[in-house]
Amino acid sequence: MRGDRERGHVSRRGLLAAMGTAGIAGLGAGGLAGHLSGTATDTADGEDPALVSARSRVAPREGRPPALLTPVPANVQVVAVDVRAQDGPDVRRTAREVLAAWSEQARSLHDEGLASLVEGAPSQDLHPASLGVTLGLGPSLLERAGLADRRPPQMEDLPEFGTDHLDPAWCDGDLMLYVGAEDPLVLSSAVDHLLRTAGDRTRVRWALPGFQRSAVAAADPGATPRNLMGQVDGTVNPRPDEALFGPQVLASHTDRPLAWMDGGTYVVVRRIRMLLDDWFALEPERREEVIGRRLSDGAPLGGDGEHDLPDLAARDGGGEPVIARDAHIRLASPESTLGARMLRRSFNYDLGWDAEGRRQAGLLFTAWQADPRTGFTAVQRNLDEGGDALNAYIRHEGSALFAVPPLREDEPHVAHSLF
Ligand code: HEM
Repeated sequence: MRGDRERGHVSRRGLLAAMGTAGIAGLGAGGLAGHLSGTATDTADGEDPALVSARSRVAPREGRPPALLTPVPANVQVVAVDVRAQDGPDVRRTAREVLAAWSEQARSLHDEGLASLVEGAPSQDLHPASLGVTLGLGPSLLERAGLADRRPPQMEDLPEFGTDHLDPAWCDGDLMLYVGAEDPLVLSSAVDHLLRTAGDRTRVRWALPGFQRSAVAAADPGATPRNLMGQVDGTVNPRPDEALFGPQVLASHTDRPLAWMDGGTYVVVRRIRMLLDDWFALEPERREEVIGRRLSDGAPLGGDGEHDLPDLAARDGGGEPVIARDAHIRLASPESTLGARMLRRSFNYDLGWDAEGRRQAGLLFTAWQADPRTGFTAVQRNLDEGGDALNAYIRHEGSALFAVPPLREDEPHVAHSLF
């Protein structure tokens, strides 16, 4: 069991004091590091740590969008929209208007909440719920707006992978709206408001709501959550307090045409359906082999605890690798992918059953990195070509890539210098 500090049991005062004295070094992934990295809370001393997420406001920090901050709220909605305008200057003007409107509304939503913007807002009487808005630009926007020369090489189209089953209806988009909140009503009403603010300048291309367990329901709100396959998911991730977080997650562009993305990040969003009936038909031991970690506590096979380093060289009595050759964590590891690293923020989605009675549930997978070519793409290529054992139980059905510019205090809106 983690201590109170690590589980986020802090008031705003305690939080600032903790930053001043101890800093954030040494805290577990997903623990208090999160509270220190992004939220301010009006809660009183001694409050149940599980309530902190519900009562906090998001305070974007050092140009980092809310999507990179922790604690990660329980609910998210990713909406991809296309800009309704003629290709060329018209798209450029319309996109700028939409980004300006969304940036302004996002600031007000973060600072005051929806009730201050809309009379009769559905979320009135609710706490801020860590509502956070993150905006992204798709490659198609730059092309359509005549800004191809400002498109960073990091934004090159993702390659096709052998295991892709992509439906174009769930791919790409000119702009991304990524909204997170601990409470589903706060989230839904904020998304609705933002889309209404854009009016008929945008058309929704696809949207996917995701969730993880709520902090209130968790026995330990600081623990790594589980996905719908029952696995502890999110263990190996760069932490905001690590020196490597910046180089791995944040983009560096000192050259002028691309400076609009300096300090931003690139996100890959994948809609990955899980074949849950097939998965749960497996014996638990087989499910552990497929991933290379224990179901009970997420420890790597052969290890003792969740945060132990996986021993990829270990052999069992019969000389076979303890972590199988095709285990997901072996093929996704930096050792197998030339050091590839990304920040994974995975949520579950559950849309019930489709007209054919197929389960529509899986992972709303998001990967945030400085360069998708050496991050997501390098790992996905290895999972694909290396024959990841997990591939038999999942289907990649949707895919998109967006540039997420930094939030600059001196700019009126996101990506201002691009326009
Ligand atoms: C439904 C699809 C997926 C499921 C259920 C899944 C599940 C997991 C689980 C349970 C772990 C071990 C715990 C952890 O470190 O988080 C893991 C690790 C990891 N996964 Fe996935 N994953 C999926 C797709 C992907 C994809 C598409 C990528 C990237 C292309 C990816 C990249 C990684 C990486 C980099 C690690 C850490 C490997 C290491 O130990 O160094 N995963 N995944």
